[in-house]
Amino acid sequence: MKKDLFPLAIAKGSAFCDRQDEQQQLLDYINKSAHVVLIAPRRYGKSSLSRRVAERWANDKQKQLAVRISMLSAWNVDVVADKIIAGVSQALSKICPFMLAGDMKKLAASLHQIGFSLSLNLDGFSIGFSGTRKNTTDTLMGISNILTALDKQAENAGWKVMLEIDEFQEISRLSQNHAIEAEIREAIQQTSNISCVFLGSNRQMLEAMFIDKTRPFYHMCHIMRLQRIKPTHYHLHLEEASKVQWGKQIDADVIDVILQLTACHPHYVNKLCSELWNMDRVPNIKTTMAGWQTIIEEESSNIAEMMTNLSLAQKAVVSVLALSPEKSLGSKLFLDHVGLASSTVRTAIKQLKKDDIVYQDAQGNWCVMNPCLSSYLQQ
Ligand SMILES: Nc1ncnc2c1ncn2[C@@H]1O[C@H](COP(=O)(O)OP(=O)(O)O)[C@@H](O)[C@H]1O
Ligand SMILES: [Mg+2]
Repeated sequence: MKKDLFPLAIAKGSAFCDRQDEQQQLLDYINKSAHVVLIAPRRYGKSSLSRRVAERWANDKQKQLAVRISMLSAWNVDVVADKIIAGVSQALSKICPFMLAGDMKKLAASLHQIGFSLSLNLDGFSIGFSGTRKNTTDTLMGISNILTALDKQAENAGWKVMLEIDEFQEISRLSQNHAIEAEIREAIQQTSNISCVFLGSNRQMLEAMFIDKTRPFYHMCHIMRLQRIKPTHYHLHLEEASKVQWGKQIDADVIDVILQLTACHPHYVNKLCSELWNMDRVPNIKTTMAGWQTIIEEESSNIAEMMTNLSLAQKAVVSVLALSPEKSLGSKLFLDHVGLASSTVRTAIKQLKKDDIVYQDAQGNWCVMNPCLSSYLQQ
């Protein structure tokens, strides 16, 4: 492939397909220094969208900067604090790169008051807890204090900051999760120069943090739910990618087959296309079907694991939906087809939806989430 047009990691540059509306909506929130959570099943493109918007926004005007932290390896409250502090250090290094000695002293003094030390190294500022942290309460207070300090410093210097916090749901696994969430909330509900964008790969856990009334982040953020990329947008994207790769048009019918097989799931579109774009010639229907078969074979152990983890009722529902997506799961036709009582189907669907094994498409049809699993069951 000439360029990595279909990466399996973050989609950047010409690999990024459309999402104009979502980009604009996210930009609008960030411009208002509002806080947002991006919710979607795994591999729908949350990180790619957030990264794209962060780059656009930071390049759009002077004095706007985006910082990214990931909570993936956060295994206790100290690590969470250290990650946030590292993000704040990174932001401050950009906001005040050429500080006069007097101003630096002032910043150091204000940080000292809230328990932090400031030092300067080759990468910029480095902030740490001054002395040793005595207890968890100090660490927790440090989290809100340092975020508040960043907001103040940004205000003084006329900067706006986007703070992307990926894998945010990992915090909910920690024993002091409520207290940590409460400290972050405490700080960011008062900020006016920071926009936090929260995302994570576990949809269910992340959603619970933001929609459960008993959790500190309830009603705290705008919720943006990402859907799959529209077929019309993928058509343009794949046409362009074909010209870049082979200098030739790809048949619209072939694109239709690619999008039908992958059901426009961004991860699987890229997986199939990266296979197809490695070939010498523009794909046709036959090579596309063969490429998809290779991917199903590659995914066979994942598929087997997914199936063995399902209850018998869930298996029946998934198998029937793979053959024919259905709007009305309580209809006599569907119940006859699965051979189950409507209450059993309801329980099965509830869990399948929670686990992102099924979803409702734009037309309201219940479908199988993973297009490889769907094709496997159809075969
Ligand atoms: N807008 C997009 N255009 C093209 N490919 C995309 C787009 N968004 C995501 N992808 C692709 O989909 C897959 C999952 O993207 P990622 O951003 O990691 O999703 P998430 O963060 O939701 O798990 C990757 O292969 C990525 O390249
Ligand atoms: Mg991601």
